[in-house]
Amino acid sequence: MANKELNKKPEELTILLPGGAGYIGSHTAVELLDRGYKVVIVDNLSNSSKVAIDRIRQITGANDEQLVFIEADILDRPAMDKVFTNYSVDAIIMFAGLKAVGESTQKPLEYYWNNVGGALTLFDVAREHGCKNVIFSSSATVYGEEAQVPFTEELERGKTTNPYGETKAMLERILTDFYLADDEWSVVLLRYFNPIGAHESGLIGEDPKGIPNNLLPYVAQVATGKLKELGVFGNDYPTPDGTGVRDFIHVVDLAVGHVKALEWMAGKIGTGEPIGRGSYQGPVSEDGTRHGVGVFNLGTGKGTSVLEVVAAFEKACGHKIPYAIKDRRPGDIAVCYAACDKARDELGWVAQYDIARMCEDTWRWQSGNPNGYEG
Ligand code: NAD
Ligand code: UD1
Repeated sequence: MANKELNKKPEELTILLPGGAGYIGSHTAVELLDRGYKVVIVDNLSNSSKVAIDRIRQITGANDEQLVFIEADILDRPAMDKVFTNYSVDAIIMFAGLKAVGESTQKPLEYYWNNVGGALTLFDVAREHGCKNVIFSSSATVYGEEAQVPFTEELERGKTTNPYGETKAMLERILTDFYLADDEWSVVLLRYFNPIGAHESGLIGEDPKGIPNNLLPYVAQVATGKLKELGVFGNDYPTPDGTGVRDFIHVVDLAVGHVKALEWMAGKIGTGEPIGRGSYQGPVSEDGTRHGVGVFNLGTGKGTSVLEVVAAFEKACGHKIPYAIKDRRPGDIAVCYAACDKARDELGWVAQYDIARMCEDTWRWQSGNPNGYEG
């Protein structure tokens, strides 16, 4: 079956967001709705809350036709078939997945089953309904431990260190193979660096269940007094202050990157030249829709150390964040940041927000919602 063409007005396009009730998906839904796209969110709420959907409506004013929410699991084939039967989905922005690195080493079967099995189920149903346009949430983790900074898209995928990272590498490969076998497919692999921050309204943000694994949610909960002190994992790395350096990116910048990727697939932006750097580019439909595999880093290109994050957060919340130096965390690398010129040149996308703003927005969300969506 021919693929859906995308070079239409946003109002004429329906975008399916599996996992759209989660942290990055909810912010992306806001950016899509603000630009007039219709959004269908499918989420099993395993790591999110229905309250996020109400908040998306509150921010955007979207009605029931512009934003649809379906509580369902992407592994549930009949339920997915119903989604595609009831809504004319033009493109998928795939967020659904389990994402805790440590947990994935304990529960590899659950991670491969949910992330890879779930995606395959969904893509098969999508194909049956003639939708072969996919934007996929990948991660800088696919570059592996040995890569040199800045990470550029043409680097070969490296050796992943855990099942979570492997599901990202596998799905990159799987989606590329779809295109190589059938050049109707249009795929964009977005490699996120470290998303943090929250919508400026303070109404949506990251709401981890239990004790956070990642730096910013941990720091934010120390700032509200929910956690006692931050453990800084190692201060003997070969970095200016000895602590790990990461490329933190505001989640709203990241969300806008998805809209740009969609416009790029539709042929509305981009140079029209073969894009190279880890990407295949295939035929272009009569309406301009691109086919192929585009690979883009979404980061700022700037590294910030753990202690610099602590200092920026102290400024944002107005008081000290107690911390103690601990041993290095196994599997961590010293420095990670993106080369961002490809996304700039091809998607016309450059991150706007700095680390101060990321911390201010995280703080607004965390202080207004100390228990996340549970109130
Ligand atoms: P999140 O956990 O907040 O969102 C993922 C959503 O998927 C959740 O709402 C969860 O309930 C849902 N989900 C999981 N399995 C499902 C299933 N079988 N069926 C239906 N829904 C399901 O995570 P996030 O931070 O918003 O991340 C979104 C995506 O981006 C994930 O795939 C993640 O691996 C990827 N990613 C995240 C980061 C990050 O730092 N947050 C970095 C790189 C990549
Ligand atoms: C983690 C994941 C990575 C995923 C990325 C998405 C691990 C090992 N890696 O990356 O696969 O793609 O999130 O954002 O989980 N830190 C502390 N104390 C803490 C928490 C973190 O010092 O309590 C330090 C870490 O050592 C690291 C930095 O903060 O130097 C960032 O850590 P984190 O937020 O967990 O992200 P990554 O490890 O970069």
